[in-house]
Amino acid sequence: MQFPDYRPRRLRQNEGFRRMIRETLLTVDDLILPLFVIDGKNIANPIESMPGHYQYSIDNLIQQTQKAADLGIPSVMIFGIPDKKDSLASRAYAKDGIVQRAVSAIKPKFPELVVITDVCLCQYTDHGHCGVVEGHVVDNDSTLDLLARTALSHAKAGADMVAPSDMMDGRVGEIRDALDENGLSQVPIMSYAAKYCSAFYGPFRAAAESAPQFGDRRTYQMDPANAMEAVREATLDIEEGADIIMVKPALPYLDIISRIRDEIDLPVAAYNVSGEYAMIKAADQMGWLDGSRVMMETLTSIKRAGADMILTYFALEAAEVMRNSQS
Ligand code: PBG
Repeated sequence: MQFPDYRPRRLRQNEGFRRMIRETLLTVDDLILPLFVIDGKNIANPIESMPGHYQYSIDNLIQQTQKAADLGIPSVMIFGIPDKKDSLASRAYAKDGIVQRAVSAIKPKFPELVVITDVCLCQYTDHGHCGVVEGHVVDNDSTLDLLARTALSHAKAGADMVAPSDMMDGRVGEIRDALDENGLSQVPIMSYAAKYCSAFYGPFRAAAESAPQFGDRRTYQMDPANAMEAVREATLDIEEGADIIMVKPALPYLDIISRIRDEIDLPVAAYNVSGEYAMIKAADQMGWLDGSRVMMETLTSIKRAGADMILTYFALEAAEVMRNSQS
């Protein structure tokens, strides 16, 4: 059928029709809120390049988590900022580490909420790399044990799911084994399988105080030019026992989300990262964009590309928009 017999505008003429033919529905169930936690009491250090986000002490983290729960957001992801850094990231897997304490404080208060922890060493190493450094090389195999210990300590503290973001080879299998050997076979692994070496992480590194002190992350994070390799990474992680596959960042990698969705039969998560958030917030503050509408359009595009869940700093705001549009 062709014009004038077929007229696509017929089904766009009012909101009723538009609702009936809408292909992608973003809901609050799709959202995961990332939160930063730091030592101390009653602390909320603003993160300059991420307006509306703070480094929270555990008491304030609980309040923020309450907001997420009240809005019906099903899940939060916890990032820790440790009191001390050293070459072996010892505060990453310490029983009384910041994430471990945060999780054990939150979990009993929010039994229904899925509490995910980021498993990586970069916030905890004095050199800021995601693994153990030998000379100027990030050593893969000696990092694996530390990652497994970190994940295990999070799960023991009560984390519902662990999310390794380091991009070392073989870490998913190592973490799966550690969990299983310790009676934690029920704890799923959300793998940052296709994590690109991206300049969009800039604001996060300021927030988490995790910028590498020398070099960059190109020897472990993926080259932004590669797509096939993302499928290979995801396949490896599945063979090692991943339960959810993540693509990160989201917006510049919608093609990767779509491709992983087509080729992989596990749930797919997308991380709408700090730089994506900062761009929209900055343009909104300048009056150059309608931030709220661009936020909803962005999140819808990530869902349309194939993400089953979206980690986003917009989670609270987007959940509010959705709630208000229902009432
Ligand atoms: C740690 C980690 C990073 C992010 C999540 N986990 C940063 C990095 O790889 O340097 C980025 C998240 C964001 O930008 O919002 N490995």
